[in-house]
Amino acid sequence: MKYQEVYARSISEPAAFWGEAGEAIEWTKKWDKVLDDANKPFYRWFAGGELNTCYNALDYHVAEGRKDQVAIIYDSPVTDTVRKITYGELLEEVSVFAGALGGLGVAKGDTVIIYMPMIPQALTAMLACARIGAVHSVVFGGFAPNELAIRIDDAKPKVMISASCGIEGKKVLAYKPLLDEAIRIAAHKPEKCVIYQRPQVSAELAAGRDLDWKAFVQNAAPAPCVPVAATDPLYILYTSGTTGKPKGVMRDNGGHAVALKWSMRYIYDVQPGEVFWAASDVGWVVGHSYIVYAPLLYGCTTIVYEGKPVGTPDPGAFWRVISQHGVSVLFTAPTAFRAIKKEDPNGEYLKKYNIACLRYLFLAGERLDPDTYYWASDMLKIPVVDHWWQTETGWPIAANCMGIERFPIKAGSPTKPAPGYNVQIQDLDGKTLPNGQEGAVVIKLPLPPGCLPTLWKDDKRYLEYVMERPGYYMTGDGGRFDEDGYLYIMGRIDDVINVAGHRLSTGAMEEIVARHKDVAECAVLGADDQLKGQVPVGFVVLKAGVDRKPEEIIAELVQMVRNELGALACFKEAAVVKALPKTRSGKILRSTMRKIVDGKEYVVPSTIDDPAVLGFIEESAKTIGYGRK
Ligand code: COA
Ligand code: AMP
Repeated sequence: MKYQEVYARSISEPAAFWGEAGEAIEWTKKWDKVLDDANKPFYRWFAGGELNTCYNALDYHVAEGRKDQVAIIYDSPVTDTVRKITYGELLEEVSVFAGALGGLGVAKGDTVIIYMPMIPQALTAMLACARIGAVHSVVFGGFAPNELAIRIDDAKPKVMISASCGIEGKKVLAYKPLLDEAIRIAAHKPEKCVIYQRPQVSAELAAGRDLDWKAFVQNAAPAPCVPVAATDPLYILYTSGTTGKPKGVMRDNGGHAVALKWSMRYIYDVQPGEVFWAASDVGWVVGHSYIVYAPLLYGCTTIVYEGKPVGTPDPGAFWRVISQHGVSVLFTAPTAFRAIKKEDPNGEYLKKYNIACLRYLFLAGERLDPDTYYWASDMLKIPVVDHWWQTETGWPIAANCMGIERFPIKAGSPTKPAPGYNVQIQDLDGKTLPNGQEGAVVIKLPLPPGCLPTLWKDDKRYLEYVMERPGYYMTGDGGRFDEDGYLYIMGRIDDVINVAGHRLSTGAMEEIVARHKDVAECAVLGADDQLKGQVPVGFVVLKAGVDRKPEEIIAELVQMVRNELGALACFKEAAVVKALPKTRSGKILRSTMRKIVDGKEYVVPSTIDDPAVLGFIEESAKTIGYGRK
């Protein structure tokens, strides 16, 4: 199979292309139209079709003879547990949990928030929602109560599902107080909370509202699958935009199932029955797509890993999991490999394990720097495939599609657009640029199946993606094609940053910092970081007359971001400055500040109000370990 032919057809005949891919899914009612474009720029895939995603992920495989195949391997070095759950067992657990949810009155179209650590019950909860047509919204366990409250108010869940604790390396984090605090802050109150009690922490349950998971499922009758429209929502996943209000990316049922199942064969080149491991978290899009839905839709065994790449117990953790469970494909973020490389640069731990089963390493979530690429490639001696995507798309926009045609890898490039994505580079005026020139990376509409059809109950905000350049979806990334048509993603052109593969908004952090009583104004920027790719760094201007010690104020700011956004923000450094550099019209010169922080050459912008301010920024950047060395 040749990439060029497959790709060209996906762009010129999208309906025929995806209609064929749709045959791999079990429908309770076949679609009327593969691509419904009657209401542009809102596109709907498989309109008129009906299916159930959980049926396709579980019942179908049990019926096809995979009942005794392992569906989930729960590997938790932090609790010293390995548990294997077959497709048959998972179907039973999910059906019963779905029945119990139904007993609470949760029905098709209702929303459910899931705030869980990396335990198999998180998958049970997600699949149970899908089974009864409820819409789940998984919130990453590292988010603080305030962020969870924002999501509760937007998604308005009837029920919330959580656990008594999460385990982060050596730390046991009680989740229930966070959940209680979030519900206290939120205006919307869920009717019930189902809590999975883990042995490490016993959560106190609020009488009348909270239910113990085990008792909850005890007498429940298994629920059958409820057919839903292909265009009905399967889930909402909140992601960072440029402001403090996260965007509720909505995923439909039909297009999602078709695209993910297709991607397993053509992008990841796996076979049903093989072990596919996405070392991420169910709270992120990688977790939704490649820990839960894609591997199960395709009949693979997926791994739920409750551990870190290092420290649980050592930098050989990934190699241990791969050899113990026979992993064929590993997918993780470059930061995980940078962490392993830092602790074990010569791969001594790798020598202890036989990982001949591993055929590919896929990396995404942030830019794959060439050093990490070469290191991983030299260590593993298998294809190390960089691929680029976003929460919004749900599956890769660009990749070296291992199941179509393998291209020679160029370090620093995720290779070529995946079938279905008409990727172009445009200048500021929306003019398409030739290969070699850098600009905004856009995708010509329609986006392929699986991508967001809209934002949850916010069509207006969805239009921000597609109305700035009508007919195109703005990815928010900058980049270029080279002369061979390889795509290079150079980073975000908005205020979104990537910290250890976690997408965060500097705007959200600025909103928190600006709330401090002594702060007049502030800017938070993403600075280059050797381990985490980027980390946030703040510059604050204090109100006139404040004469407290700057260190004290900064310590308070760090604590505020930790409390309100979460420890995952890694906001640890800030400097007090006399002023922020601005244009004469008052716009903060963020890109110039970013260059200063990263110690790069910069040109003093002609629009600057007071060039002397740049000198203050250079000086204060140095005091916190950034800037030109
Ligand atoms: N629940 C609660 N807290 C969490 C959390 C969770 N699920 N995940 C992270 N945190 C906390 C951590 O405990 C840490 O807190 P601390 O400041 O008190 O130590 C903070 O958030 C930052 O966490 P992290 O960025 O994970 O840093 P780390 O130093 O613990 O680990 C890496 C560094 C590189 C090992 C780790 O970030 C990693 O494995 N990254 C891979 C990322 C990934 O899989 N991304 C998904 C996209 S594919
Ligand atoms: P998220 O929505 O959390 O998946 O983050 C999406 C963003 O991460 C993208 O817009 C990019 O900025 C960045 N990203 C993801 N994968 C890659 C990659 N392979 N190369 C460069 N940047 C990436």
